[in-house]
Amino acid sequence: MQKLTITRPDDWHLHLRDGAALKAVLPHTVRQFARAIVMPNLKPPVRSVAEAAAYRDRILAAIPVGQRFEPLMTLYLTDNTPPEEIIAAQAAKFIKAVKYYPAGATTNSDSGVTDIQKCDRVFDAMQQIDMPLLLHGEVTAADVDMFDREKVFIEKHLMPLKQRFPHLRVVLEHVTTADAVDFVMATHNVAATITPQHLLFSRNILFQGGLRPHYYCLPILKRETHRQALLKAATSGDPKFFLGTDSAPHPRDGKESACGCAGCFSALHAIELYAEAFESVDALDKLEAFASFYGPDFYRLPRNPESITLTKTTWRIPDEVPFGKSGLVPLRAGEEMTWQMTS
Ligand code: DOR
Ligand code: ZN
Repeated sequence: MQKLTITRPDDWHLHLRDGAALKAVLPHTVRQFARAIVMPNLKPPVRSVAEAAAYRDRILAAIPVGQRFEPLMTLYLTDNTPPEEIIAAQAAKFIKAVKYYPAGATTNSDSGVTDIQKCDRVFDAMQQIDMPLLLHGEVTAADVDMFDREKVFIEKHLMPLKQRFPHLRVVLEHVTTADAVDFVMATHNVAATITPQHLLFSRNILFQGGLRPHYYCLPILKRETHRQALLKAATSGDPKFFLGTDSAPHPRDGKESACGCAGCFSALHAIELYAEAFESVDALDKLEAFASFYGPDFYRLPRNPESITLTKTTWRIPDEVPFGKSGLVPLRAGEEMTWQMTS
């Protein structure tokens, strides 16, 4: 195949940051995607409808002139989020979901939830009004191995949560394990996003030829058997699995550090990365539904009317894109890609 035309995709898990960083990264996403679920882990986080409205305005103001893009906003859940805020979010229309970060799990999660049961009143309200809950599904307990954090979260927190709230619609974000895939397939009202890095790489890449901080994200890459399970789920045609890049920009000096930040920047070439992953298992015919159908179907939004075209051609991913003082290193920087979005 030399050309692939698909319905314009959406990104169901994106970090856009704020200020100059927002202005630097947003054009990359706008070029490929029509809409994105915008994560609320700013400093301070986006906790209220008023904060989400103001953040949305800043995003709209940063869209390059003449282009179209719809930011789908989320609220950051804390121990103290009142159920009334969720009801107000529903009324606000532009807020599409609530994001749960376990306190301390990842970038800017200090204000996250310390005990999931503290939020039961909020979950009850969300279940009643059918507002999706987006989960960063990792436990943070120091005695749980880094590579088991997702599996333990599912067993200890997510299974009981689904028993308490069977009708609550949940997205287990950026799934990384076969355990997560099995749980999602087996559980009603649960879907999942999958990132390009988790489809393309196992944890070996983190140590290939030396320590490689640009492959460090959370949840961390897992062993090859898990990558295979994710690739199988993504290309299976099961509508529970859809595209969410988790593109998470950090300046080069924040990544190349004695204590480096978690996050891979993939907005530059996201759809091409997914195309390569799908092609690797001869499943390019499954890309469109994963990238452009199942996400809007889950969120009960219309599928996009426009399309994009990918062309089979070789091009080199830049070493860096402009981003403040220290630049931004894209995923697989300097390497060759075999697909390119050409229109
Ligand atoms: O790698 C990650 N980066 N994982 C997250 O959960 C957050 C994200 C970020 O905001 O940098
Ligand atoms: Zn994320």
